[in-house]
Amino acid sequence: MCGIIGILGKHEVAPLLVESLKRLEYRGYDSAGIATVNHGHLERRRAVGKLANLSDLLVHEPLPGKSGIGHTRWATHGAATVTNAHPHMSGPVAVVHNGIIENYRALREELAAAGLTPETQTDTETVALLTRMFMDRGEDARTATVSTLKKLEGAFALLWIFEGEDDLMIAARKGSPLAIGHGEGEMFVGSDAIALAPFTDRITYLDEGDYAFVTRAGVEIFDQAGRRANRAEARIDLGATRVEKGGFKHFMAKEIAEQPVVLADALTHYLPEGTINLPETLDFRGLDRLTLVACGTAFYACSVAKYWFESLAGLPCEIDVASEFRYREPPLPHNSFAIFVSQSGETADTLAALRYCTDKVAKIVSVVNVATSSIARESDVALPILAGIEVGVASTKAFTCQLLTLAVMALKAGRDRGHLSDEDFAAHVAALKTLPGLMNAALSGAPRIAKLAEQIAEAQDILFLGRGVMYPLALEGALKLKEISYIHAEGYASGELKHGPIALIDRTVPVIVLAPHDRLFDKTVSNMQEVMARHGKVLLISDARGIAAAGEGAWESLTMPEVAEPFAPILYALPAQLLAYHTAIAKGTDVDQPRNLAKSVTVE
Ligand code: F6R
Repeated sequence: MCGIIGILGKHEVAPLLVESLKRLEYRGYDSAGIATVNHGHLERRRAVGKLANLSDLLVHEPLPGKSGIGHTRWATHGAATVTNAHPHMSGPVAVVHNGIIENYRALREELAAAGLTPETQTDTETVALLTRMFMDRGEDARTATVSTLKKLEGAFALLWIFEGEDDLMIAARKGSPLAIGHGEGEMFVGSDAIALAPFTDRITYLDEGDYAFVTRAGVEIFDQAGRRANRAEARIDLGATRVEKGGFKHFMAKEIAEQPVVLADALTHYLPEGTINLPETLDFRGLDRLTLVACGTAFYACSVAKYWFESLAGLPCEIDVASEFRYREPPLPHNSFAIFVSQSGETADTLAALRYCTDKVAKIVSVVNVATSSIARESDVALPILAGIEVGVASTKAFTCQLLTLAVMALKAGRDRGHLSDEDFAAHVAALKTLPGLMNAALSGAPRIAKLAEQIAEAQDILFLGRGVMYPLALEGALKLKEISYIHAEGYASGELKHGPIALIDRTVPVIVLAPHDRLFDKTVSNMQEVMARHGKVLLISDARGIAAAGEGAWESLTMPEVAEPFAPILYALPAQLLAYHTAIAKGTDVDQPRNLAKSVTVE
């Protein structure tokens, strides 16, 4: 979602704000803006589209000042126009916001009664107007901000600066993350450690409901009830916040290519020689059920894991997308674990689902890439996926590392519950350890996938088929493709095709069949034959045995290394990602920042 940065600095802040926004652009790229206070004078610059447009504007219309705030927007209320771009200003107040002010309509009425009319369609402007209203009534900046906060409903990270106040920023957090960065005679506020990394490695995360008065001398933090609060300062690992393409054309290409290395790191962490490195408290014995909840790609990782927990551990497993789960009021057996999977650890729906489960289940477990995230902090056990920072909006290496972490958990569950023999357990561990090498082999197929993608890019609709543990991967393959190439794609369980979707098949619809030569292979091949009998254009992705057995008659085939059956989705994710990537390249779309999307979805 939107990215926020604020600086009370020693030098001109406009270039620093833009530099930091560049690091946050993955959160939203509809428009961007900054505001500064220069010897008491408050002014802003805003531009629609990518950050480069704001940089260009600042060349022609520089913005002096050593204090300032900046914002990169993912539009929620109001189109991506200059008027709707942040910072929003009213009188002496400028504010940037990530989240949604849910009661903004009611607040607008109250503001209208006070003679204050909005100029934009945004929910955020109400915050600026409210603070101004309280200041018009004689309150100082600090008091007016606290009065404003009392009126707001919804989820937000907010940051204010004020006319006449060169040494004050006010930050508030409810539902959306916000961190304070400590410098020497300088202070910073940002959406995450990535935004603050160029300036400092000393960070304090605001807790839910906190607000903070920030000056160059330091920060005063208050909790929701207005009591002074002590929040610990932490050192962040600056290496872990490096945002570089490392010679690749796109972050997504780099992140796809990194998978053998990050997976090997995760394997070393979770499966050191002869043992499983998971907390002892994560004991699956005697559990009645697991509930796995997530959104998007992370949900597909849960969908794969359901097969693993059920088959390897005999543990009943419910999965749901967080936006549905949270309002479904599902009854949860106390004797169960709820597992939340999230790359960012900040996804609003997943966080809300986690909070729903608190006190209802025996343990809240999260599987996250950002160890300091809200979801990690609110869990009983937080397991890092160790993918390293993921910048490309389409998730790639996080998906395979989520799968690996869940696979290790399923193996522990299998052993804890006596469902796996020692031999089977050891065989599965050995199979997981072959994955980095197999991934390297799979990546070497990239040039051929790039060629296939040139033809795939011509299609209007594409289907992905998979059976068993490959079914969720069919869903993920379709999601990846539509996200970045904008081609309509759907994933189906191979066996479901004949119950409706087969009506879509004709010569123009490529059907991508993800089918390692496993125990369900023949069944999938039958479904594939049904497609070919209707002149469907099948791309069979399988291993050499599978292609030898069933490749004939297919439009194209792609040979993958052989892989142990349960873990094939981890390997087959790579051709699915590469296909999406190269199709997007062939179509000339924006791979790292696809339209309408944002990396960290902190609104409902
Ligand atoms: C797709 C993608 C999204 C995310 C989803 C959840 O490529 O990245 O579908 O998987 O928004 O995000 P996290 O994992 O951060 O909770």
